[in-house]
Amino acid sequence: MRTSTLTPQETGVGSIHVEALPIDEVVETELVYHQLCLADDFEDLEGKPFHVNGTHLAVFKFEDKFYAVDNRCPHMGYPMSKGSIRDGVLISHWHHWEFDLKSGGCFLAFGDDLKAFPVELRDDGYLYVGLAKGEREAAKRRVIDSGKRSLERGLKDRSTFFIAKAVTALRDAGATPNEIIQQGLHYGAHKSSDGWSSGVAILTLAANLWDDVDPKDHNLFLVHGLSQISRRTTGSARPYRAPFPQVTEEHDLETLKRWFRYFIDKRHSGAAERILLTLNDRDYDKSVLADFVYTAATDYYFTGDGHALDFANKMFEALDYVEWDGAHEILRPIVVDLVSRTRHEETSRWADAVPVLEPVFERLDSIWEENQANEAELDISEFAQVLLGDEFEPTVAVVEEKLRAGVDPRDICRAMTYASAVRTARFHLKNEGDWHDVANIYSYAHALYHAFAYAPSPSLLRGIFHGVVFLAYLRWLNMPAARIPKPGQRIPDETYDSVDKMLARLQEFADFQKVYEAEILVNQYLEEGHDIDPLKQTLSHILLREDAELHMFQVLEVAFRHYDLSEDSEERRMHMLAATRYITAQKLMKNILWSTENAERLARGELLSERDDD
Ligand code: FES
Repeated sequence: MRTSTLTPQETGVGSIHVEALPIDEVVETELVYHQLCLADDFEDLEGKPFHVNGTHLAVFKFEDKFYAVDNRCPHMGYPMSKGSIRDGVLISHWHHWEFDLKSGGCFLAFGDDLKAFPVELRDDGYLYVGLAKGEREAAKRRVIDSGKRSLERGLKDRSTFFIAKAVTALRDAGATPNEIIQQGLHYGAHKSSDGWSSGVAILTLAANLWDDVDPKDHNLFLVHGLSQISRRTTGSARPYRAPFPQVTEEHDLETLKRWFRYFIDKRHSGAAERILLTLNDRDYDKSVLADFVYTAATDYYFTGDGHALDFANKMFEALDYVEWDGAHEILRPIVVDLVSRTRHEETSRWADAVPVLEPVFERLDSIWEENQANEAELDISEFAQVLLGDEFEPTVAVVEEKLRAGVDPRDICRAMTYASAVRTARFHLKNEGDWHDVANIYSYAHALYHAFAYAPSPSLLRGIFHGVVFLAYLRWLNMPAARIPKPGQRIPDETYDSVDKMLARLQEFADFQKVYEAEILVNQYLEEGHDIDPLKQTLSHILLREDAELHMFQVLEVAFRHYDLSEDSEERRMHMLAATRYITAQKLMKNILWSTENAERLARGELLSERDDD
């Protein structure tokens, strides 16, 4: 018989620590018995904590018998050894969950059970607890399973705290981010009758930005996405829809695509969903599904301010991240975005664009043919300036010309993303709540870039022309254009001994909503050639510690990805300045003041375009 040495040692919650290597153990079937302490050390109804081989135990004496359970309350971790016993019922004193002392069974219908362990009182007067040989691993698995149940409950109850607790427990137990993100995506897609929501988009962004963010902020990122999902879901499942029944002679893709576009046009989401599910069921390549969705997303003008295409892109990124596990549910919400979002050809704002773009759209096939047959380079930086022109009509013509010459559509999308970064960096702080517009075009241009890599097609070219028009519409958001830091500009009378100090100062500027100072500092950081990763981590942290909304996450992702794509220092600078400006400015709480000032200026007959530079 080998029995473990008892090494009393006060730890965290005052538990007695039993060293990992038992000297003398009893092996009974799968169990290894560990000596705890003398039975006489216990008073009746008393509970004591122990820590044995990584397992936290609460041991009790009740009516001359001894019982051991996991010392962590499955609700929120209260130490069970501090609980009390009433008629054989063990009570956790934090929120009064009650458990059967013998079995650990929870009296709450939805509560998790406590794991119970056998205890023996031996002839030597000592108590011995039996732990399964693989108890550590088993405990880990229990924590992961219970964490997943807690996460589901937190999502259902819309409790950020429960979500955070579940995420922390899951990650501590070794659950991968993929497992947590997959559960969130599935819940978000399944438990809502809405479209692709901001929460699932943020979770996808968490996956995309995982390596850019300080690992200390990883849990926080997950909680952001999951808590937004909880706010946008009702807890009741989307009604089930099946793919079409299998037949010997399946429909060809041309017919299915024609039907898909037809039903999206008629805003018949159920029919369109079934076609998408049928494609998935028949194992068509993901590029086929993407082609259907991207085509429908660009069939109408800038659908949903670009969100239909942007969310379609996020959906395919998410599906790839989870390797298309659960695709049946994850694919469904996007159809809601395709059928229900604003089609801008129906709005008066876009009325002047329709007669310009329609003839171009008639020529899409020939533009595509020439594009594929030719090859030409594009100066991204120079072309971004063309896209920033005031009138869209001449720009539309130049874009067609470039495409026919064989310029890669992705390069035009990159130039559009760069131009959108300029729109954001030049956005006047005192504009009236149009921040979403600049974020939308920035994220849209990036989504289009990605879509051309994923499923290039002539239809997708329409998305480029939609973006060109919207960029021109946004020109007034840069009137007057906000100043941007000049080369070599520094904060007066400030020097920093180290990069850490510089980044700490950046956080302070963000805290005190000093947008321009934050930009000057980022400009200095880039000019001095410091490592980009700590700057990315700091900007992410500034965002993550706020109750940030989707657009801020989107801007961050686009800025980071296009910084990485470019080798041009000015283009890189503009992306990082756009992210800095967007993130720090969102904290400004002076809209009432500025709206009143703007109204007073107008009443005095002044032009808003002549406001102070900011
Ligand atoms: S922690 Fe035990 S009931 Fe809440």
